[in-house]
Amino acid sequence: MGSCPSRFSQPARSLGRRDRGELAAVKDAAVKDAAVKDAAVKDAAVKDWVAWHREYDDPSSSLSARLDCVRLHLAAAIDQMPPGSLQVVSLCAGQGHDVIGVLSGHPRRDDVRALLVESDPRNARLAAQRAAAAGLGQVEVRQADAGYVANFADALPADLLLLCGIFGNVGEADIERTVRAAGSLCSPGGIVIWTRHRRAPDLTPRLRSWFADSGFDEVAFDALDTSKLTSVGVHRLRGEQDGRAVRPQRPASLPDGPLFTFGGA
Ligand SMILES: C[S@@+](CC[C@H](N)C(=O)[O-])C[C@H]1O[C@@H](n2cnc3c(N)ncnc32)[C@H](O)[C@@H]1O
Repeated sequence: MGSCPSRFSQPARSLGRRDRGELAAVKDAAVKDAAVKDAAVKDAAVKDWVAWHREYDDPSSSLSARLDCVRLHLAAAIDQMPPGSLQVVSLCAGQGHDVIGVLSGHPRRDDVRALLVESDPRNARLAAQRAAAAGLGQVEVRQADAGYVANFADALPADLLLLCGIFGNVGEADIERTVRAAGSLCSPGGIVIWTRHRRAPDLTPRLRSWFADSGFDEVAFDALDTSKLTSVGVHRLRGEQDGRAVRPQRPASLPDGPLFTFGGA
């Protein structure tokens, strides 16, 4: 028989006044510990996502640098798309600073239909107001859970898919699932713009390899020198080569459940 750790191998004894005090303190600490853990989980899941956007008010912030980079790539991607109408889908779109900011001044603004999916009703309302103020009637803001493909399936396939501000807030399995599903969400030649920090453990090398073996070519990977070690990636879904469809190493797969759940990072 193995021996028990010493703290469990004390002979049983009745509790004295001091022991009761110690037990109460241990219980207290356990309750506090559980409360702190609960609060941390809740905090990640129900963070104030309106307040989160205030960092955009400071043009020198990490978040503003990320936004500038996303906007540059989005504008360039729209420039490069073949003539005709284009479908943009932005998941967890927040207040739409990227899509609305680019479309408002883009020469192809009238070619673009955009669906912004955002779960926070206040952010969704603010995004809709921004789109209306910019005269972008073809931008729809939908208050919904973007983890579920059914909530935006009517706008698929996307020519441009934005996954910005997601991969830093969900777990690694969710990131991989979303990347591996991306090929099913985009049209051939479609472009995904995504963000993720490079803090340890830096998942960006794995993320880029998941895109590569899901049929995407890397267009850009910008490792920004910001305090948050932000990066912005751009991947294009391979279309046809010499008139033949290019098959990804692993065909895209849509999960039965959600692509991701916020708060799992
Ligand atoms: C980190 S912010 C990014 C916002 C925007 N993409 C940007 O980069 O400015 C994440 C946003 O996702 C929203 N969100 C969280 N969970 C969501 C979900 N399941 N479906 C849709 N939006 C979600 C939050 O309300 C928040 O506005």
